[in-house]
Amino acid sequence: MASDRPRPDTLAAQALGALDPVGHGLVPPVHVATTYLRDPDNQYRSGRSYARPDNPSFEPPERLLAALEGGAAALIFASGTAAAVAVFTSLRPGDHVIAGEVMYYGIQSWLRGPGRAWGLEVELVDLTDPAALAAALRPGRTRLVWAETPANPTWAITDLARTAALAHGAGARLAVDSTVATPILSRPIEHGADLVMHSATKYLNGHSDVVAGALVTAKIDEDWQRIVQLRKQQGAILGAFEAWLLLRGMRTLPLRMRQVSRSAARIALHLAQNTLIARVRYPGLPDDPGNAIAARQMQGGFGGMLSIELADGEEAAIALAAHVQLWRRATSLGGPESLIEHRASIEGPDSRTPRSLLRLSVGLEDPADLIADLDQALARLV
Ligand SMILES: Cc1ncc(COP(=O)(O)O)c(C=O)c1O
Repeated sequence: MASDRPRPDTLAAQALGALDPVGHGLVPPVHVATTYLRDPDNQYRSGRSYARPDNPSFEPPERLLAALEGGAAALIFASGTAAAVAVFTSLRPGDHVIAGEVMYYGIQSWLRGPGRAWGLEVELVDLTDPAALAAALRPGRTRLVWAETPANPTWAITDLARTAALAHGAGARLAVDSTVATPILSRPIEHGADLVMHSATKYLNGHSDVVAGALVTAKIDEDWQRIVQLRKQQGAILGAFEAWLLLRGMRTLPLRMRQVSRSAARIALHLAQNTLIARVRYPGLPDDPGNAIAARQMQGGFGGMLSIELADGEEAAIALAAHVQLWRRATSLGGPESLIEHRASIEGPDSRTPRSLLRLSVGLEDPADLIADLDQALARLV
């Protein structure tokens, strides 16, 4: 074993061996200082001057995430959105950016609003269709392709290897929002991605008690150095205690991802048999359009997110969400408790999500209880 590279469960459980360097405790401390001592010779012995550029509490979660993703380095941010915005603002006004038609609406609306106002030429493309991507790429002008897979809220799957090859062929970089897959189920860098982004608010932290974001880079190059600078200059840093909580959450990530994947697969199969439901969207279902690609680029499960479309439309969807007792009516995903949400309501008037769609984040409860609760709520619709 000593010569084998430890596997993800081992890396995560031991947090790469992070320790308290003073007391040799098995849990690293929270570093709360905002500033560091300068020596009489005018040097900073620790290499640190101020806690906005970096903080020792950021390093254990950053190192663990980089190791799990197979990347060269990682950076944590105040939120997933802050991490994404650092990537977009590392580009230059006039740069052409391609993003998915289907993706987390908040980041898409940043691109359509502030992103365009800042000068990015943003084009939304169906990234499940390689021909559409090939047609949209402008060699020498397109700087970034931003793909989310599985993508909110339909869990559409983008073929990462193919997308990376097309992007690189046109001189563009590929960044992947891998929030839903996590490095336990998919490692985009292995498929050619240049950057991986996470809303660490979700599965990485996993307890619905921290808002955080992260980026991982395949290599340390000028583009990455610009992003490192931007975190400092934009100041969107995580608090030290939140960084500490994030590491604590990540230690159980592999276990949680296996459990939610098993439960979601069981719930998806069960709901697919109910005639009140017109469509179940889950990449693990054999008839899902993304199933074959997902099976190639995800290992150990298809994740904990699924959506259902009610045959009787929006009213039935909202009524079903009203009738559940165990599932919590709330936005977000990736926590221990299962959530149900009428997605179009939170996305607002320009939402393109079907009005009949409910998004389900499967948590860590016993799946039999979750199924029984959905069944009683569905029975009340009849
Ligand atoms: C897939 C995905 N990416 C990014 C984000 C944004 O992350 P945050 O809320 O941490 O800013 C979210 C939040 O819901 C998300 O679901």
